[in-house]
Amino acid sequence: MSMNASPDFEVFLPSEVDSKSLGTKLARILRPGDVIALYGELGAGKTTLARGLIQSLLGDETEVPSPTYTLVQTYELPECSLWHFDLYRVNTPSELFELGFEDALQDIAIIEWPDHAGDLLPSDRLSLRILFEGSSRRAVLSSQNAEWVKRLDEHFDRSGPKR
Ligand SMILES: Nc1ncnc2c1ncn2[C@@H]1O[C@H](COP(=O)(O)OP(=O)(O)OP(=O)(O)O)[C@@H](O)[C@H]1O
Ligand SMILES: [Mg+2]
Repeated sequence: MSMNASPDFEVFLPSEVDSKSLGTKLARILRPGDVIALYGELGAGKTTLARGLIQSLLGDETEVPSPTYTLVQTYELPECSLWHFDLYRVNTPSELFELGFEDALQDIAIIEWPDHAGDLLPSDRLSLRILFEGSSRRAVLSSQNAEWVKRLDEHFDRSGPKR
């Protein structure tokens, strides 16, 4: 790792409950203005993690449907709204504006398929990549935002040497 690269943090996710637990853990350190970009292939567990995060804030009985067709679902928290996007079907910035994407960035935004936001994706986001590992998953967290790196350092393990 070069001196300038920001570190990655890793969490092994053996099963679905662990993906939800990672969501719970992130929920505890979330603040208004945070943007979490959830990267990962189809079926990686992005919605599962978002569900764990949202249910830990609003109760396990809260329905957290995948925003596959609605593109966004919003939830009301005491301090701000939480926006859960699935941008898989979004291909132009104008569609994003119609969804309220810019307002969402002032609140809390959890974004599946974040690469579809192109330049509108803020660089101070938390990036969370979910990788397949056999029938399990591994999450890799990183950020260019020093403040996020500080938070990650306090709550997560840095990844070891690359294999
Ligand atoms: N850590 C894990 N280990 C094994 N299976 C998991 C894990 N996390 C989630 N899953 C399973 O992966 C499947 C897909 O999950 P999910 O719908 O959350 O994926 P997604 O990344 O949101 O997919 P999409 O790209 O279609 O939105 C579900 O059956 C879920 O139970
Ligand atoms: Mg999904």
